[in-house]
Parts: sequence; C-alpha cells; structure tokens
Amino acid sequence: MKFFLDTANVQEIKDMVPTGLIDGVTTNPSLIAASGRDIKEVISEICSIVDGPVSAEVTATDFDTMLAEGRMLQGIAKNITVKVPLTFDGLKTCKTLSDEGTSVNVTLCFSAAQALLAAKAGATFISPFAGRVDDMGGMGMELISEIVQIYSNYNFSTEVLVASVRGPQHVIQAALLGADIATLPTSVIKALYKHPLTDSGLSAFLKDWEKTGQSIL
Ligand code: G3P
Repeated sequence: MKFFLDTANVQEIKDMVPTGLIDGVTTNPSLIAASGRDIKEVISEICSIVDGPVSAEVTATDFDTMLAEGRMLQGIAKNITVKVPLTFDGLKTCKTLSDEGTSVNVTLCFSAAQALLAAKAGATFISPFAGRVDDMGGMGMELISEIVQIYSNYNFSTEVLVASVRGPQHVIQAALLGADIATLPTSVIKALYKHPLTDSGLSAFLKDWEKTGQSIL
C-alpha cells in the first residue's frame, strides 16, 4: 500500500521523506491556503523534494478554465498530478487531460457511482473522502469497499486513493480492503507508529542500560 502525505507544508514533507514512507503528496486549495505560499512556487518546491506524484488542484469550475489551469499546473514539473473535482466539467477535464497523457486525480468523491464515472473518464486516481462520509453519519469504509470491488470487477486501472483519513483504523481498514493508496496528514502517520508499550518498553531498556555504565560508541 502506498502512502501519500496530505499537506502543502514543505517542512513536514522534508521531515517525512527520509523515512521512505512517502510515495507522493496531495494538496488541495485549503492546504495551499494554510501554507500561506504561492501555489506554483510551493508545488514546484514539493515536486523537487518528492519523486512520486504530487497532486495540485485546479480552482476553476468551468471546463475551459479548468483545462487551462490543469495544463498550467502540469507544466510545473514532470511528477505533477492534476486534481479536478468530481463535477461534470471536472470529468470532462479529466478525460481531456488523461488523453493528453497527464496524470489526473479526481477528488471530492462521495459515492461509488461517482467513482465509476471517474474511472470511465480515465482518472489515474480517485479520491473518496472516507472521513467526511463518517462525519455525516455514513460509512466511509463501505464506500471504499464498493469502489475497490467495482474497479476490480471491470479491471479499471484507476487507483483508489483513500482521502480524508482520520486515524490508524481508517488506514488499516483501507489496507484490508486492498485500497491502493491512503493520503495521510502528518498527524496520522505519527499515530501509526506511536504506541505506549513501545515508549514504556524503551524507557525500561534505557534505565537498565544506564545501570551497566556501558557505552556502545
Ligand atoms: O486532500 C483531501 C482530503 O484528504 C481532505 O481531508 O481532513 O479535509 O476531510 P479532510
């Protein structure tokens, strides 16, 4: 399973890349706003740090402008994935860009029907927002399960990129369902490796080690 980092914070990306855990990055207009930086500048910097796909989202809502924005974003670096919303114009933009050989991430997906359309429009990635479905009282992981099943039934090459991930349980459930990718905020990556028994076990080892008076170096 691949992990993408869901942030436009360059320092967070720089800190996480050396772990080898990060296979790509996703951003959205809210994350770019939170970075306080110019979109082209920050996306270009992220692309130079990360080898894998870096999603940069269009902000227009009509086909012509979305397409122009998508082409502009795609020109920033070779590892750009253009992110478009799951609207009629977004699907048209997805189809045109993917026919041109551009990697496209269709975002704001909240139903299996929408995911089916995105795959038919040639999406490289579909981003179902599991956490936001849960927030509305729905079952985010049922949505992931349906999409994984449908894509498998028809051998779609579109990868399921689980987004709006709230914690380790989402990651484990998505992995059990065979989702291709989860995009995670740094807080969720930390929650994945943090365990109280690891912390208490380490502190007991160090206490005993101190008693020996030894040093490895
Ligand atoms: O980048 C899209 C998605 O991961 C956003 O998540 O936490 O704003 O629902 P969230």
